[in-house]
Amino acid sequence: MRVLVVGSGGREHALVWKIASSPRVDGVLAAPGSDAIAAHATCFPAVSAGDLDAVVALAKEERVDLAVVGPEDPLVAGLADRLNDAGIATFGPSAAASRLEGSKSFAKAFMDRHRIPTAGFAVFEDLDAARDYAAKQPNGCVVKADGLAAGKGVTVCETPEQALAALDEAMAERRFGDAGAKVVIEERLLGEEASYYAISDGEHVVTLAAAQDHKRALDGDRGENTGGMGAYAPAPVVDEGVEKKILERVVHPAIRGLASEGMPYRGVLFVGLMIDAAGDPKVIEFNVRFGDPETQPLLMQMESDLVPLLDGAARGELDRVPPPQARGAAVCVVLASEGYPRSYPKGRVISGLDDVAGDPDVFVFHAGTKRGASGAFETTGGRVLGVTACAEDVAKARDRAYRAADRITFEGMQRRSDIAARALPGAR
Ligand code: AMP
Ligand code: GLY
Repeated sequence: MRVLVVGSGGREHALVWKIASSPRVDGVLAAPGSDAIAAHATCFPAVSAGDLDAVVALAKEERVDLAVVGPEDPLVAGLADRLNDAGIATFGPSAAASRLEGSKSFAKAFMDRHRIPTAGFAVFEDLDAARDYAAKQPNGCVVKADGLAAGKGVTVCETPEQALAALDEAMAERRFGDAGAKVVIEERLLGEEASYYAISDGEHVVTLAAAQDHKRALDGDRGENTGGMGAYAPAPVVDEGVEKKILERVVHPAIRGLASEGMPYRGVLFVGLMIDAAGDPKVIEFNVRFGDPETQPLLMQMESDLVPLLDGAARGELDRVPPPQARGAAVCVVLASEGYPRSYPKGRVISGLDDVAGDPDVFVFHAGTKRGASGAFETTGGRVLGVTACAEDVAKARDRAYRAADRITFEGMQRRSDIAARALPGAR
């Protein structure tokens, strides 16, 4: 079969890499793809992920059997609806269901309707009312821009003063553009974060491993929120008991709730969770696509073929697909540009990539690179590379990932040195 992957980042590089290894697949296409993705797929650089007409036209012209949508923006804009209408089986939810990620206030109301545990919250469109409310939260709160802000529209505030500054930044200064016209102010949850992945065809559910992301820019979870500076899977905080609670209290009610409200969910539901000391999960956010960079370790760890899961979900036949098998653990260390998550330079030449090629347990996924005039890879994004390694346990996978990451460099490169440290035996 021929599979089209929509997107161009590290997550899409991992999806393309994994899909290309499937014995069922004889052609992978990517729109727009990237110079790194071109090693495994035919790329269509002129077709951007956000150009719905162009993606649908390409999928029809190239007679693809399955489309897999990587990023959230085209899903929120209705790409899956458009592809399905054109007769193309698509992995990715409808625009209606994608509001779970596209609007935090929609997600909160949905969780309320289906009694899914989440942080208490209030929604504001008026800066003064928001400031009044935030001033009255002595233990701090979390300020979130309502719309999409590439994972950066959230500020965890320990004091009312921090909350007031975050509100000014989002609502008055519009740091996140129109996404900040409306804000959600949430109760600050304490505990350990994990993300959980469930693939659904609207009715049936297949679960993947739980992963843990590292959102803050600096070691020790300090600094600003980013799109993610590294990740690992599985996450030990999600043991069997916790997983059962996540399924019973969150995943199944969400999938059933979406179906009962007329928007059956076909795709991957990525649940961001805070697990408290008693092992009780509360939802921080829903995302309607694979995590980035969590997908990189998740797929590196997956031994079985991903394509039957994607195709089964797209066609409503997930009950016929055996559950996936995973081995050991995997760790992804992100190498980011100087200044990220704020503005960053581009065009810095990357060295050392060849030194880590050839090791079957290490793969460097490209998030923001292109080939420069000399043919060498250069930086083009805030997050540049995801150096990912797999091994029988998380300690070995972590060592292997950092050993590989040590060989790669570019001017101004920043990375965290404590990715997956929390998962080491005795760390928690
Ligand atoms: P989000 O984009 O909603 O996932 O938020 C980004 C990050 O902010 C999360 O991964 C958490 O680390 C943190 N965060 C979000 N909401 C809360 C909350 N209610 N309590 C504590 N931390 C939160
Ligand atoms: N790594 C977090 C995300 O993909 O939203």
